Amino acid sequence: MKPYVRDTWVEVDLDAIRANVHTIRSHIPVGTRIMAVVKADGYGHGAVEVAREALSAGATALGVAMLDEAKVLRQAGIQAPILVLGYTPVDGVIQASEWEVELTAYHTEWVEEAESRLVQAGAARPVGIHIKVDTGMGRIGVRKEEELLELAAGLASATRLKWSGIFTHFACADEEDTAHTLAQHERFTALLAALKQHGFTLPTVHCCNTAAAIAFPKWGYDMIRFGIGLYGLYPSMYLKERRDVELTPALSLKTRIVHLKRAEEPMTISYGATYTAETGETIATLPIGYADGFPRAFSNRGFALHAGQKVQIVGRVCMDQTMIRITGATADIGDEVVLYGKQGEAEISLDEAAALLGTINYEVPCMLNYRVPRVYKREGQLVSVSHQILPK
Ligand SMILES: Cc1ncc(COP(=O)(O)O)c(C=O)c1O
Repeated sequence: MKPYVRDTWVEVDLDAIRANVHTIRSHIPVGTRIMAVVKADGYGHGAVEVAREALSAGATALGVAMLDEAKVLRQAGIQAPILVLGYTPVDGVIQASEWEVELTAYHTEWVEEAESRLVQAGAARPVGIHIKVDTGMGRIGVRKEEELLELAAGLASATRLKWSGIFTHFACADEEDTAHTLAQHERFTALLAALKQHGFTLPTVHCCNTAAAIAFPKWGYDMIRFGIGLYGLYPSMYLKERRDVELTPALSLKTRIVHLKRAEEPMTISYGATYTAETGETIATLPIGYADGFPRAFSNRGFALHAGQKVQIVGRVCMDQTMIRITGATADIGDEVVLYGKQGEAEISLDEAAALLGTINYEVPCMLNYRVPRVYKREGQLVSVSHQILPK
């Protein structure tokens, strides 16, 4: 039995995830490892399933934004190294030890407090720490050489913390103008050199997100942090058009027509009566709305694919329902409609949806929420379904 009763679902093509890992693998230096970034529930694709596929395709570590995301992966039985890329309140350090999750640090006080809490708790397993260096992202990270040396010394003398990595994050690696990225990289290498000069042996060094891995593969160091590319999306249109690597989009959003009507006279559609169907137009209703993460901003602007053709969303997108105008084909209740992805030759890419919404492709799948079942396919065949609305 299908584990959900709903005519709206996301399909994730696991072969695409695998292919994207292989593609980046062949683009970066042989010795550089791949961390699959599966934060935000795998950018909306489902963290556990994407992580398993990426690991079996050759990724060796996972990146998340917060400790709770790491716990979800551990609870699913995933044993690969996991790094929390963002800030972890020091309270979380005991759990990080229990769950064997590596953390990011950039304050000496945090390191001292984390060490003392682990000692007090008699924590059996040291917590791996990656130092975050802010070379020009202006978000989190240690900026000054003296502070970095102090932090490294603090980690070297800790007994319950293990210095496992050092990394930075690029702000503009997806852009044609490389000045900011080159300056960030120069700063990073200068700080690494200062550490070596002071006698520190460098742990795992990493700086590349997808954009930098594509544009500057020789900067792979020990590992890249592969996020958006894992899902087959490019960090920017500039990098997409450069075609250094061919990525395969993994996600489609699909639904089915649940109601059809033909206007026998002009009739208004949806809240606010912002669209009037002319006599003879056929209007179909789809069971998806903004409460699923299908943005209301698509009202009278967005598109869908029906019978291999692009059709218009008409009227306002409601909380749970959306209307489209059927053109050029007959329609039936139950017909499959694609909102993101391909149908025959036609496609609505996440890039196109993002452009309509005035945002970036990253945000579009992240908006799809727990109400929408995720269906995983390999070679076109269903392999599993995850539906977070239902209790476990
Ligand atoms: C610290 C860090 N590393 C890596 C990534 C992955 O970036 P991308 O999805 O552009 O590959 C992110 C995502 O924002 C990040 O915050």
